[in-house]
Amino acid sequence: MTTGAFITEQDTRVFLRELDRRYPLIERGKGVWLYDAAGTSYLDAIGGGAMVASLGHGVPELVEAARAQAEKVSFLYNQQFTSPAQERLADELTGLAPEGFTRVHFVSGGSEANETAVRLARSYHVERGDADRWRIVSPAQAYHGPTAVTLSLTGRPALHHHYTPYLTEHLHIPPSTKRFDPTGQEALEALDLALEAAGPGTVSAFFCEPVSAASLPAYSPPAAFWEGLATRRDQHGFLICLDEVVTGMGRTGSWFAAEGLPFVPDVITTAKGLGAGFAPVGAVLCREEVYGAVAEGSRAFELGHTWDGAPLSCAVGLAVVRYLREHRLIERVQEAGPRLHRALDGALADCELVSEVRGRGFLSRGGSTWKHWKEGCSSTRPSPRPTGTRVTRRCSRRRSRAPTRSSTSSSSACARRCAQWSAK
Ligand SMILES: Cc1ncc(COP(=O)(O)O)c(C=O)c1O
Repeated sequence: MTTGAFITEQDTRVFLRELDRRYPLIERGKGVWLYDAAGTSYLDAIGGGAMVASLGHGVPELVEAARAQAEKVSFLYNQQFTSPAQERLADELTGLAPEGFTRVHFVSGGSEANETAVRLARSYHVERGDADRWRIVSPAQAYHGPTAVTLSLTGRPALHHHYTPYLTEHLHIPPSTKRFDPTGQEALEALDLALEAAGPGTVSAFFCEPVSAASLPAYSPPAAFWEGLATRRDQHGFLICLDEVVTGMGRTGSWFAAEGLPFVPDVITTAKGLGAGFAPVGAVLCREEVYGAVAEGSRAFELGHTWDGAPLSCAVGLAVVRYLREHRLIERVQEAGPRLHRALDGALADCELVSEVRGRGFLSRGGSTWKHWKEGCSSTRPSPRPTGTRVTRRCSRRRSRAPTRSSTSSSSACARRCAQWSAK
């Protein structure tokens, strides 16, 4: 290993994620700063690169919580044991979740949480004698993780890389962005078509982020979409699972972003901010009714990961909750979020490339014209059957509604961008 400030493929035995990238060799972090081996400081404005270190680096209270727990007992397998840390964190999270959420299953990260949520939704139906339900519907432009099940939940073929043979064909609908579907009506129509084509009795859950993180940053559907979704849940009997891997634990100005929605979901997953970068920990929370299906059925939710609910991870999760409370961070995000939004709005008002500033709390973002093109096109990329035909038709319709502001406005330019997007 070199002791220089950067690591390249030549310097390392690590199987790098991107072989042509130079990686800063970070030795330590404090607050929002990271320091490399040569003493250069980097402003870490994105939580360690993945919206995880939301409380900053080197937080003494979290370090101490991890140390103290490791001294007592660091690991226990939760098929045989539980611990005060796991019990207390479960109490805390159910207290912070929306009304009616009574149970938590701990895991180590976001993908594990989402994959567990998919299994839980399936178990709910099977336990109630509804074994035909397995399909998931999700917005196409989403990211729920890189494991086989979670990767199947995105409708962006570019993200599937060469792993398609391992992926299951779930159903995708376009997101209802402000530009192309401001009322959410088209997305609801797409949902209806997907349900109809698949057979509503085969659909287990609708899976989405309340406010998108990486794949359509800071985007949230309009209220009418959420209301329509909840109505269809009541009609058709699927569950609504919210991926709050990024939005959970305060980022949007509430403990869970579900709080701002006009319905109560059935399952919520959370991860990144729960360990805040001091321990890998995630959680799947569910309503009593979902738990009740298992409790009154087989009485077992089989399969688990070795580190599920380990005392060390849960103790860090508890310390994070305590820290958020003691420093009033949720309230402070609530107060500062609109200011951030207004500041971005003002600063970007004259920027031709930016057509809107969107988001909630500290999950804000200026959407560019180009970005809108990507949204419009990518959301209409052919998705797994049976919604593919419909989706392709929408794409050509949207192209004909292209803005005329710049050279990107021609339909051929749109088609080009679609091709570029899918190649990514
Ligand atoms: C919304 C969302 N869900 C799930 C995941 C996957 O989480 P993990 O990388 O912890 O498995 C991510 C990761 O970026 C994410 O942003």
